[in-house]
Amino acid sequence: MTADTMLAKKHISFEKIPTAIYKDSEQPSVAVAREIADIITQVNAQGRNAVLGLATGSTPKKVYKELIRLHKEEGLSFKNVVTFNLDEYYPLEQEAMQSYRRYMKENLFDYIDIAAENCHVPDGTVPQELVKVYCDNYEKKIEEAGGLDFQLLGIGSNGHIGFNEPGSHINSITRLITLDFVTRADATSEFGALANVPKKAITMGVSTILKAKRIVLLALGEHKAQIIQKAVEGPVTEFVPASYLQGHSNTLAVIDEAASAELTRRKAPWLIENVLWDVAMIKKAVIHLALAVRKPILKLTNNDYNENGLSELLALYGQAYDINIKVFNWLQHTITGWPGGKPNADDKNRPERANPAKKRVLIFSPHPDDDIISMGGTFQRLVDQGHEVHVAYQVSGNIAVADDEALRFIEFVVDFNKEFNIKNDEVINIYRQAGEFLKKKESGEQDSKELRYIKGIIRRGEAKNTCRFVGVPPENIHFLNLPFYETGQVEKKPLSEEDYQIVMDVIEEVKPHQLYAAGDLADPHGTHKVCLDAIFEAVNRLKNEEFMKDCWVWLYKGAWAEWDIDLIEMAVPMSPDEVQKKKFGIFKHQSQKDGVVFQGSDAREFWQRSEDRNRATAELYNNLGLAEYAAMEAFVRWKF
Ligand code: F6R
Repeated sequence: MTADTMLAKKHISFEKIPTAIYKDSEQPSVAVAREIADIITQVNAQGRNAVLGLATGSTPKKVYKELIRLHKEEGLSFKNVVTFNLDEYYPLEQEAMQSYRRYMKENLFDYIDIAAENCHVPDGTVPQELVKVYCDNYEKKIEEAGGLDFQLLGIGSNGHIGFNEPGSHINSITRLITLDFVTRADATSEFGALANVPKKAITMGVSTILKAKRIVLLALGEHKAQIIQKAVEGPVTEFVPASYLQGHSNTLAVIDEAASAELTRRKAPWLIENVLWDVAMIKKAVIHLALAVRKPILKLTNNDYNENGLSELLALYGQAYDINIKVFNWLQHTITGWPGGKPNADDKNRPERANPAKKRVLIFSPHPDDDIISMGGTFQRLVDQGHEVHVAYQVSGNIAVADDEALRFIEFVVDFNKEFNIKNDEVINIYRQAGEFLKKKESGEQDSKELRYIKGIIRRGEAKNTCRFVGVPPENIHFLNLPFYETGQVEKKPLSEEDYQIVMDVIEEVKPHQLYAAGDLADPHGTHKVCLDAIFEAVNRLKNEEFMKDCWVWLYKGAWAEWDIDLIEMAVPMSPDEVQKKKFGIFKHQSQKDGVVFQGSDAREFWQRSEDRNRATAELYNNLGLAEYAAMEAFVRWKF
């Protein structure tokens, strides 16, 4: 960790919390676990207990996994370790599935040699009138244990640390707080519905955290990139409680490449170090400049370059005029109304090949609606322009169907059978069992096999409906039902040989000239990332096959994010009518409309997110001085 910390300090002028960036999402967790192990060993060698502050949530899970491995395989002992967890929902039973006490047992305590009396997690069952005394006592216990030697933190999408929500004071100590809406929305998937998420929590305070001798803030995934930028580079403010860490003298932010995306060293590296001015960097710099000074590219002047840290680029390439034209043309050439290539046209400056004029196209859609949400306009054009379009739905998406939606279908089947006096015991039993289960289902409880099956059929029907609407024949629809997804929970299994084989089979069957995949890195634990990994692995295994020599892979983004404009290699414009048609295509996914199970903190419906995003991409192109379109879908080519 020391080497990384030193490296991190180089960027101190922008990064006010030293930050270590790791290539993938595994390494940061391993490094943090190593540091914890070292602290335990060092403190124990001084003859005292190591006192650790621990966090929960999805981020530290791999840290705990690695600590368990270190205990089992390398003899790391927790006999002389005392832990204090940051927080707990309130009120909440300790045995509840969402309780942090339970989380700690299941993810760490049950697998190491720590004494039960040394593990402290705030208690969500303390009567309200005793909470104040309880919290003061929690503080006292930390002090009596000798203070925190180490504090592990995650960061909420609103910048919270522990449950110190925006507005928390720097002097705050352990207390009962009211949870922010964003935090409750983020927790919806664990509790089944927003209404089930507790409204309060007990949390260590900002001051409690800042007293720790060493703090590590761990953040993984693209969805943390914006808040990490604010915490690390922004002003210290109570509105981003993680920014208080800037005032702590021994804090390190440990993040992966995806979470670093918004930092200046990624967004504008020329402001920090010498860069290699290749095509990608020139494009990035000029687009960054145009957006910063709010001018179209062709209006940028020598002064604009000089005054914004780009004098070196100017010195190397002459006049602003020359660079502007070059970058403008590069951008212009990304725009095409012919995503499958324009037949009989010169394709030298087009994103896709003209030949073969009729291509076999395979669109991978992680969930049953990502095809239409993320690339519906392009999907429609490919069909309309006569290509043989196949869609492969990677996972069933069953956990995202609400119970009442499933009940509606169950009642339909039961009533239908009654009406027509159909007596198929096997079918009736499946539906009856699912119905019975639903009546007794507790909040957040995992669905039964039958119910999951029914929810899967609902989503399959919606996908078929979209394909019918767009014009894809039934024989070109492939439901892969990848096994890694079928846990019935948010947490999935790792990818297996079976998953790879299924993905390889469909590629081999279609032998596509074009393959589209969701290049979504927004969530390292998320389904899109796993689905993409399965495709990357399958393509790599197949790359020496003859048909793969003609196969180009295009990546689109999911519902939330868009590619940075300098990375876009194909931009497909849409007319207002096409935008409208795409919206109707998204409406076919009735189970994902009007308040979905996994809404997150973004209150917009999927069609709204998609419209906003496609409009924003078109506006960006327009702001840079290119033609004004109603909307645009964007793609990046993956060269395997
Ligand atoms: C958990 C905690 C929270 C989380 C934060 C990030 O004990 O205190 O601050 O660290 O909400 O959660 P994940 O890791 O799930 O994104």
